[in-house]
Amino acid sequence: MEEVRYGIIGVGMMGREHMINIAHLRNEGAGATVTCVADPHVPSQQQSLDLAASFNWSLKVFSSHQELLESGVCDVVIVSTPNMTHFQILMDIINHPRPHHILVEKPLCTTVQDCNKVIDAARRRPEILVQVGLEYRYMPPVAKLIEIVKGGILGQVKIVAIREHRFPFLVKVNNWNRFNVNSGGTLVEKCCHFFDLMRLFAAANPVRVMASGAIDINHKDENYDGKVPDIIDNAFVIIEFDNGCRGMLDLCMFAEGSKNEQEISVVGDIGKGEAFVPESVVRVGMRAAGRAGVQTVKAEDKRIKYDGLHHGSSYLEHLHFLSAVKAPGDRAPAVDLHDGLLSVAMGVAGQLSIERGRFVTIEEVMG
Ligand SMILES: NC(=O)c1ccc[n+]([C@@H]2O[C@H](COP(=O)([O-])OP(=O)(O)OC[C@H]3O[C@@H](n4cnc5c(N)ncnc54)[C@H](O)[C@@H]3O)[C@@H](O)[C@H]2O)c1
Repeated sequence: MEEVRYGIIGVGMMGREHMINIAHLRNEGAGATVTCVADPHVPSQQQSLDLAASFNWSLKVFSSHQELLESGVCDVVIVSTPNMTHFQILMDIINHPRPHHILVEKPLCTTVQDCNKVIDAARRRPEILVQVGLEYRYMPPVAKLIEIVKGGILGQVKIVAIREHRFPFLVKVNNWNRFNVNSGGTLVEKCCHFFDLMRLFAAANPVRVMASGAIDINHKDENYDGKVPDIIDNAFVIIEFDNGCRGMLDLCMFAEGSKNEQEISVVGDIGKGEAFVPESVVRVGMRAAGRAGVQTVKAEDKRIKYDGLHHGSSYLEHLHFLSAVKAPGDRAPAVDLHDGLLSVAMGVAGQLSIERGRFVTIEEVMG
């Protein structure tokens, strides 16, 4: 496969970030182009056409993913539509007679049941590669911390604490992200990234989740067709893993006055590592050396040609995806359907825990 032809389903904010990433890959001679997009929203279609024109691409624009799949003008598809549409679109792609490799935005689906149906369908099409867009793994300081943890110098990881203090959810096309029924809830929509990271750092699977959260500040004065948003804007979530490791997420979405958006702390029996985004700094210290021994390093990845809105992580995600597409059979997707499923399951368990006021086991949400 010389030049990989991409079709992008959903060209809102994230779909256009994908288009720009592919333009940069193409500039680097990586053999990639976008031939078509599908989106029913005319302003999004127009923005994608403007973008394509700026890259001198001719772009076919469809209103539905079915038309895009029938067109035969792409080999791989990116699904960057609202979360509640992922399930049906994925099923239609996977069940289409012509195989298309897939990069699907997180969350894989909004429910565990739908994730499982997608996994079952994909199992019947082993020639199709499916990668899930949990790209926080690639942010340079996060990737550096993962490398440090996997290198073993911190010892056996016992605690993973992730703080995300940031701005409120952005406005989206038709305000889909204002309601749990569309997004899966804040702990699924946003925090699946952090649950995925916790699994990586802990090198273990989650057993049970306890969460407390509420909608305290944001979106209270908004109203859409008579409905007020129901998405939580802050939460504390505790996750217990099957190797005894504990994770904690501290989420606050009315914290614009933060220097960093994410602060990640991983503590083992020998030492501690921390990553700060967007400062792009990593700190490492050993218990034996104490505070004086803490080292600070700047994290960067020279491969990044476009920062986008995610500090270059979606560019790196594309590098991984493209190399997997070009070497099917040899290379597994960097983030697979099982990773996608578990990150959703942890979010669903967290949402349910808030609702019920008790621990929720992963077994319970896996049904
Ligand atoms: N990986 C990340 O860090 C990250 C960041 C932002 C968004 N996302 C994910 O990307 C996806 C899109 O989010 P966004 O911020 O771009 O939203 P958006 O509202 O800006 O764009 C979504 C686009 O999809 C279109 N769309 C809706 N239904 C469609 C359908 N059935 N077929 C084709 N197009 C359809 C909309 O018209 C819109 O243009 C979501 O799943 C979101 O969770 C991921």
